Amino acid sequence: TNQYQNILVENPHPGVGKITLNRPRALNALSSSLFQELNHALQDFDNDESTGAIVLTGSEKAFAAGADIKEMKDLTFSKAYNTNFIASWSSTIPNIRKPIIAAVNGHAVGGGCELALMADILYCSSSAMFGQPEIKLGIIPGAGGSQRLTAAIGKSRAMELILTGKNFSGTEAAQWGVAATVFDTAEECVQGALKTASKIAEMSQLAVRAAKEVVNKSQETGLREGLDYERKVFHGLFGSKDQKIGMSAFVEKKKPEWSNE
Ligand code: CAA
Repeated sequence: TNQYQNILVENPHPGVGKITLNRPRALNALSSSLFQELNHALQDFDNDESTGAIVLTGSEKAFAAGADIKEMKDLTFSKAYNTNFIASWSSTIPNIRKPIIAAVNGHAVGGGCELALMADILYCSSSAMFGQPEIKLGIIPGAGGSQRLTAAIGKSRAMELILTGKNFSGTEAAQWGVAATVFDTAEECVQGALKTASKIAEMSQLAVRAAKEVVNKSQETGLREGLDYERKVFHGLFGSKDQKIGMSAFVEKKKPEWSNE
């Protein structure tokens, strides 16, 4: 039974957690209650030993149409500041240690685009519609769009999109390196994400954690510091059982049976 009102949570394949944003009448607009549920479900999967990777998706029509405008309409500066409005969007997801794969179909605009950009791997269908339309509402992106989108596609393109609010397609997302893979249909996109999640879930979970950690480090530090960090973590893995298991299996031409230790 589903304990949530705005999301669906499943384990469609062994090792794979799937979260589907499910607020169809508002195109999955990210209300506070939806985000609370999303954070809760992500944390649960992160804590669950049998889950190796998480797929986050919406519907064919909308991944998410952004922050809930009806909820924000009467917000004041003091209330936004005092409650640290939408800070909770950045408190959980960046601390999830298991890989999150976003399967984006339909509208992924405003906070929906920003949520997709928070994922570790982004898959989309060619007809997906991304964008940061906040400027049209008299505001700016508030959940990382100005930073993560700019890092992903460069300053000039990001400026153009954020200053005009125009959309970009799934096909463009793939051309620009926002999406790892673009699929023809929504169904193929979700299946592709689940398949990649299964593949990741079959690896040593210790090594997967370390890999995610070092790649993310590259987004936050300079090259020299990032390389030092990578090497330290790399050295550390020679203290794991899974390094011995993985390399012995290769030499013995066997399939490794990971211990996750
Ligand atoms: N918040 C609240 N409700 C929303 C919503 C949102 N972000 N987006 C859509 N909805 C609601 C609509 O109000 C509508 O509800 P009613 O039936 O009660 O009128 C329902 O979802 C269906 O929407 P549309 O009829 O508009 O659907 P469409 O297919 O014609 O258009 C769309 C789709 C182009 C995505 C359009 O809904 C739209 O422009 N939505 C708003 C997008 C937006 O501006 N997002 C940015 C929000 S600000 C933000 O996210 C800040 C941040 O950085 C964190």
